[in-house]
Amino acid sequence: MCGIIGYNGKGEALPVLVEGLKKMEYRGYDSSGVAVIDNGQIKVVRASGKIKALEDKLKTTPLKGSIGIAHTRWATHGAPTETNAHPHTSYDGKISIVHNGIIENYASLKAKLISEGIEFKSETDTEVVAHLIARYYNGDLKSAVLKALKQIEGTFGLGVVCSDEPNVLIGARRGSPLILGIGNDGDFYLASDVSAIINHTQKVVYLDDNDVVQIKDGGYSIVNMSSHEVQREVQDVEFDADAVAKGGFPHFMLKEIFEQPEVLRNTMRGRLLTAEGNAKLAGLDTNIKELRNINRIIITACGTSYYAGMVGEYMIEDLAGVPVEVEYASEFRYRNPIIKPGTLVIAISQSGETADTLAALREAQQKGATALAICNGVGSTIARTSDGGVYLHAGPEIGVASTKAFTSQVTVLAMIALLLGRQRRLSFETGADIVKDLLELPDLVTETLKLSDSIAEIAKTLCKANNFLYLGRHFCYPVAMEGALKLKEISYIHAEGYPAAEMKHGPIALIDENMPVVVIAPKDSLFDKIISNIREIKARGGKVIAVTTEDCHPLDEIADHIITVPKTRPMLMPILACIPLQLLAYHIAVLRGNDVDQPRNLAKSVTVE
Ligand code: F6R
Repeated sequence: MCGIIGYNGKGEALPVLVEGLKKMEYRGYDSSGVAVIDNGQIKVVRASGKIKALEDKLKTTPLKGSIGIAHTRWATHGAPTETNAHPHTSYDGKISIVHNGIIENYASLKAKLISEGIEFKSETDTEVVAHLIARYYNGDLKSAVLKALKQIEGTFGLGVVCSDEPNVLIGARRGSPLILGIGNDGDFYLASDVSAIINHTQKVVYLDDNDVVQIKDGGYSIVNMSSHEVQREVQDVEFDADAVAKGGFPHFMLKEIFEQPEVLRNTMRGRLLTAEGNAKLAGLDTNIKELRNINRIIITACGTSYYAGMVGEYMIEDLAGVPVEVEYASEFRYRNPIIKPGTLVIAISQSGETADTLAALREAQQKGATALAICNGVGSTIARTSDGGVYLHAGPEIGVASTKAFTSQVTVLAMIALLLGRQRRLSFETGADIVKDLLELPDLVTETLKLSDSIAEIAKTLCKANNFLYLGRHFCYPVAMEGALKLKEISYIHAEGYPAAEMKHGPIALIDENMPVVVIAPKDSLFDKIISNIREIKARGGKVIAVTTEDCHPLDEIADHIITVPKTRPMLMPILACIPLQLLAYHIAVLRGNDVDQPRNLAKSVTVE
């Protein structure tokens, strides 16, 4: 959940480390710190709060040196205080480490180290690792790290430096991401995320689980836990520094909302076959025969990705007639799910690093299922662990609240539904119509985005509310869930999403003049039903904000606010209908003065349970 960065090169480490931390602040931002080997001594500066606080401290305590590590934290063990901030240094002051992940057996390791007379300074699980490495250190940092890691259960992305070896930087990973960046002229970087180092290099190695990399004297080598050297491919990163900048928008979230037309084009590029009324997804090529024979699908994911999965369930059942269940990854992984021959599991994850989704995918594989992944993070752990899958090609999503990943995930699921449908009961003609409608989507999203200013006006009338309800039916029921999640995340207003008809089974009791109800009501076969639901709300004094399509009469007479989006086929409506809800949450959060890109208590990539 945290972000780590390391540098070993010819220049000054500090500016590289601080810049990298800022790029990764979305991974966690409750405290941060940096350690540099300065004249043969490890010097550490840490601060609680955002990276700005660390920068302020560094103004009075500048660190000089060309090798260092740094960390931005999202607390798991121990409060977000300066003492608990990384880097953590060993009892003898020689070893300093930064860590992303969780040391599950830290309590027993800590008890043992305490019994040996070691004093702990922090409440973190990480500190045991620093002491353990120091315990094993005998003039060779790499072998001390390897020995320590053999004692550890849990997950880690690690950066380690040692004052006795001021030319060495060690990195290691198991379960948490870690990337080696290879710069020019003997400059090397370690980072949890490429965005942290993209300004310096586009050449990276995605380290595998149990890899330990040593960067020393202008070169690097990678070994596994048995100390055997391993070779890893050097890859070129596809996006450049501009892609991670805000591009003129006040927030990453707004930039990412407005990127959606282009994102959808990228998601679909080369993947739709107009002449065959079908989709071609290269990442599924090796699975294509097996897909013909599957008889059940389980989609597993968390948060927004889960809601995309719910849309996928309806689309796949509708087009392909294959039964689909959608399950929270955190439940799936622990409840002994039934996987029979013919069951396919699809894990959905923007980051590709979510711990529960990764564990669910592994659990499915363990039980014999083929497990596919829908990911944005190229080279992410979930992508590499899966038996095949489809990348979103949505570009880096920096805003903590997911937006473009959702529409891109739904688009990928539509293409999978189309492919599975064409393998089964879907006619060429319907397939061709769906391809045409998919290809029209980016332009329709551009149209929808023009609503931003009018939604900002509506937001002014709603931003003081304390509770919201979101209602939708059929394909737009998951959109209601996603709309409520967006509002909760960034505006801190309590919101709940419901299938519209469920309202009368309980939530209707909440409705009065203080309860705005956002209803997704496109003109489709269930339009009349949802009009009845809206009348029930109005009869109780509720305020209705309707997201609908053209010709929405009689909605125009009963709703308090109407947001009209373009029309598309019902299964693709979620892609257009969710955009006003993203914008509504965004504008309300801005009006409330909240930190839209880094909402409190949240982190972008949840790499712990
Ligand atoms: C919501 C949000 C989270 C993520 C969830 C899964 O805006 O960002 O709910 O959707 O943590 O993350 P991924 O998709 O990276 O597995």
